[in-house]
Amino acid sequence: MSLKTISLLLCFSILFGCSPKAPPPKSSLTLKQLMEWVIDPHADVVWDSVKFISNTNGDTEIYPRTDEQWESVRNSSATLIEAGNMLMVVGRSKDDQQWIMYAHQLSQTAELALKASIDKNKDALFDAGGNIYNACKACHDKYADFDKPVAK
Ligand code: HEC
Repeated sequence: MSLKTISLLLCFSILFGCSPKAPPPKSSLTLKQLMEWVIDPHADVVWDSVKFISNTNGDTEIYPRTDEQWESVRNSSATLIEAGNMLMVVGRSKDDQQWIMYAHQLSQTAELALKASIDKNKDALFDAGGNIYNACKACHDKYADFDKPVAK
């Protein structure tokens, strides 16, 4: 192969192979599917991880105890952080400013849960769960005519 051919091939691959324009992010999931299949199940992991149960047997405090349990909360918190970004994808966002703000609020509150799970701090995790709930509710109040994010 001559040098000329090689450099020609190189040019070709630089032109056509190496610099394709990145496609815009898109997804086949509807907003409702993203809510029901991604966001809601992961929020449930966080919410169910810390709670008090009072019954005739007395009070039981539920919270993550093993490394695996903390990691599961960590992973779901991380998913919720990214879910905030998924909500901002063009086509999902209902308008510009406010929707983005609510989506951002979900990420920010999930950051608190992530930190709590890494610190293994059950009180902070409980508070973060409340903040996440408020983030869900704030957006639903504005854009969805229901308020039952904890579909049980
Ligand atoms: C940025 C706005 C926004 C945020 C944040 C948000 N949601 Fe939603 N959610 C919506 C909208 C809008 C719908 C209605 C979608 C539809 O019906 O097409 C919805 C629908 C849902 C549904 C489907 C309910 C039904 O009966 O149809 C569930 C479940 C849900 N959200 C859970 C959550 C949870 C849990 C969180 C927080 C962890 C959350 N959402 C955060 C906007 C949001």
